[in-house]
Amino acid sequence: MFDPTRKDYLHQHMQGLTPEERICYNYFRRNGILLPFGFPNTHHDTPNKFILDPEHGWTTTDCSDPLSGWDLLKVVQVENGTAKDDLYGKLYFYLRNQLELFVDRLQNLNIKFDLYDEDALNLSQKIKKERFDRIYVSNICDEVYCGIEPVLTKLYPLLNNNNPNTTLIALFMNWLPSIPSSAIKESINTIMKRLDINEPPSTLQDTLDTVLTLTTKADLEVNALYDHTRQFKAYMEKMKANAIAEKVGLYRRKIHKIVPKRIYGSMKKNEQDKALSFEDERVKHLLYEVGFHTFKEHYVEWKIAA
Ligand SMILES: C[S@@+](CC[C@H](N)C(=O)[O-])C[C@H]1O[C@@H](n2cnc3c(N)ncnc32)[C@H](O)[C@@H]1O
Repeated sequence: MFDPTRKDYLHQHMQGLTPEERICYNYFRRNGILLPFGFPNTHHDTPNKFILDPEHGWTTTDCSDPLSGWDLLKVVQVENGTAKDDLYGKLYFYLRNQLELFVDRLQNLNIKFDLYDEDALNLSQKIKKERFDRIYVSNICDEVYCGIEPVLTKLYPLLNNNNPNTTLIALFMNWLPSIPSSAIKESINTIMKRLDINEPPSTLQDTLDTVLTLTTKADLEVNALYDHTRQFKAYMEKMKANAIAEKVGLYRRKIHKIVPKRIYGSMKKNEQDKALSFEDERVKHLLYEVGFHTFKEHYVEWKIAA
């Protein structure tokens, strides 16, 4: 977490934050307790065994951040009890509300949890009776893990084929080989306009700051601004995803019903394939500078073939 060789990465992230956000980020990194800034933490004296393992020490990476696990645009809407830029304080109240909703559901619905410490591909051998309307496989369809064919083949038997809406959802994170240079150029022009750096910097320090700002932000923004619909289709073809799905008895939805195709993408029918474009400066700041998404993420929904 405080490895000196990672200091540069830490500073690159922190330079994009506002001074207030930076204070809260630093405070959270140092004590790991999710509370509003300045809230007494005397009673929070028991280490979290999921984060701090007695044998292996700190278990998460230094860029793991709880803010990235939730919808930042909803988290910042929390208004009670925190300063505007105390994002961890906002997350505290947001999660308290989510946990209340969750407990409420546990009390009112018939829910059962079965936890397996298993290779996901072996689950259909373990789970004999239950069939599921939804299965989310995270990004194990990526080639670095299992690939598409084993996942669809091995998990298909667990899907409930009596429900026409049954869906297997997958995330692809490691698929985009490179963005064509023409698209990069176009995105850089948009970013230059947004950062208003057509004006020549007045001092050497200004120049250095400008270069640093552009290079650290540009990579993410290019990913987000790039309409990778065609490339993703080509990738699916290269992986023979449609042929595999057809053989297994699944069909890739053209219009998603459950998750947007891209992180922070639209669910509106005619906007699902649109490149991301964030008009609001605060939204851009939150997504590019505060959050840790790469914007290469792409979701797929497979339904049972009719
Ligand atoms: C990028 S992480 C995803 C983390 C988190 N679940 C998410 O969706 O953001 C992918 C995870 O899948 C796990 N994984 C890869 N192959 C698997 C398999 N065959 N069975 C179960 N888990 C697997 C990896 O160990 C890794 O923790």
